[in-house]
Amino acid sequence: MTNDKAQMTKNIVLVGFMGAGKSSVARQLAGILKRELVSTDDLIEAREGKKIADIFAQRGEPYFRLVESQVVREISGCPGRIIDCGGGVVLDPENVAALKGKGTLIYLKASAEFIYECVKGQTHRPLLRVADPLAAIRELLKKRQPFYEKADIILDTDRRSIEWITQEILKVIC
Ligand code: S3P
Repeated sequence: MTNDKAQMTKNIVLVGFMGAGKSSVARQLAGILKRELVSTDDLIEAREGKKIADIFAQRGEPYFRLVESQVVREISGCPGRIIDCGGGVVLDPENVAALKGKGTLIYLKASAEFIYECVKGQTHRPLLRVADPLAAIRELLKKRQPFYEKADIILDTDRRSIEWITQEILKVIC
């Protein structure tokens, strides 16, 4: 297999903060490239038989992270997929190492203000169900930035459309 071919079949792994557009971009990439789409959040919900908000409420965040790491380990070994990661996946260095084994990590980097605009009408994310979501986003983003920046590729997606982000990834990857 040539280097190009190997690169083509590596997993495309999308990481970044909640609301940065990972799931929408992942769906578009999977459609265009005709690749299998895998979402860590969907797999966790299917495995637990409940919504993420209920897992957080009933079992707590540490339990959620445990299941998340199990799911990451299981899905990262098989190449050729588009992997849509929950926003906290990169916090565990072992998750990052596993995903990098057969994948290219792409960080969709957006500002706190842009993220806030994207998520403000939504209620399904437990970490943002707080009195001041913008302040929570700013604080979490600051803490997480060094983890996200471990990605292989960093794409500045502030105020960019899902279509623009998808095309940029295709240019870099293909
Ligand atoms: C989380 C992000 C969410 C989900 C959970 C925790 C996080 O996924 O995994 O609510 O810690 O950033 P999205 O990034 O797809 O919203």
